[in-house]
Amino acid sequence: MKTLITNISKLLHIEDQERPWKRGKELAHFPTTDNAWLLLENDRIAGYGSAATTQPQAEEIIDAQGGMVLPTWVDSHTHLIYAGTREDEFAARLHGATYEEIAAKGGGILNSAKKLQQTSEDELYEAAAQRLDEVIRLGTGAVEIKSGYGLSPESEIKMLRVARRLQKSFPVPVKVTFLGAHAFPTEFKENQQAYVDQIIHEMLPQIAEEKLADYIDVFCEKGYFSVPQMEQILKAGLVKGLKSKVHVNQFNILGAIKKAIENDSLSVDHLEVMSEEDIELLGRSDTVATLLPGCSLFLEIPFAPARELIANNAIVALATDYNPGSAPSGNMNLMVSLASIKMKMTPEEAISAATLNGASAIELSKEMGSIEKGKRANLIITKSLNSPSFLPYNFGHQHIERVLINGKVYN
Ligand code: NIG
Ligand code: FE
Repeated sequence: MKTLITNISKLLHIEDQERPWKRGKELAHFPTTDNAWLLLENDRIAGYGSAATTQPQAEEIIDAQGGMVLPTWVDSHTHLIYAGTREDEFAARLHGATYEEIAAKGGGILNSAKKLQQTSEDELYEAAAQRLDEVIRLGTGAVEIKSGYGLSPESEIKMLRVARRLQKSFPVPVKVTFLGAHAFPTEFKENQQAYVDQIIHEMLPQIAEEKLADYIDVFCEKGYFSVPQMEQILKAGLVKGLKSKVHVNQFNILGAIKKAIENDSLSVDHLEVMSEEDIELLGRSDTVATLLPGCSLFLEIPFAPARELIANNAIVALATDYNPGSAPSGNMNLMVSLASIKMKMTPEEAISAATLNGASAIELSKEMGSIEKGKRANLIITKSLNSPSFLPYNFGHQHIERVLINGKVYN
């Protein structure tokens, strides 16, 4: 079936050449067409042009009513499966406690793990499905979801099964990441290697056998997993066919970026604190630098050095980090605003980072992230607007009129 979207004020982020990502200066390179139409055939983009050219015939017409059309956001880093919320910890922080102090007292990730272990798979699924539905309405057309609040073979696998169920029941692409190495459970505090062994020898084989994950992740940080522990886990993942995406450089510079690149990580995520060497390394590597401005805002930690990364030719992506502890918002529109306001990314750079480069961080850039013939018709139609800058500028407002997933209006 053919669908024609007419009356588009501006068609944003057209791909003028097939590419897996944009790096450095390319992020600002952002072809557009004014007064445009866009033709869809079933779930794919079939063509586009300006209103001055002959509009093709189609069975269905969608009138964009002077709105802009752009590819949906690709949120390449979320923890949207969780049990319970942690606004009590947020309130404690408002009274002066720090994120690290709360975690050291058994709050933080361990608090979420305790709640998750007591929650059934069905309950987890229902809550996560509601969150996923909500973020799709906010314009997210593909998502990565991590485990990491299970921290035992049984509960990690429960989370991954929920993620696989979401993947089957939702119309958007979902990529699943195993994050057993998110924190050390209390009973392993004095014997960390035993937990690393459990991840490698107990969890990984079952996860690989049942194909429960696409990627593997480690939270490499002081008080969490060390660089050698991360490396051991990444290598074991590779043996089982799992590429990695890692949490690094959130609070401390430990040398994890270099090791992640050496182990062919698809992405390094967070990057709030970085050395000159780290920035240069990412500029020379194909590992995506995924920035999470929602976490910086919420924890009041530094924003990642987006300008320096772009100046050094890195592949910069934006994601939400949606989770109950450090980033309780799954709204990619807000991330695009924060990227411009707090990290000084231009609107064009922020949009490229939140679409094509996000897709690249979860190996979806062949079919998502730009307006290109043959790509999946996951699209945002905005309210009547004609400047991409308006999206980050009018922060916190709802600019989306309709979201199309696989060529159909999502509702
Ligand atoms: O990406 N940094 C590690 N993990 C999550 C937060 C986990 C939590 O506080 O629940 C993150 O920020
Ligand atoms: Fe995270």
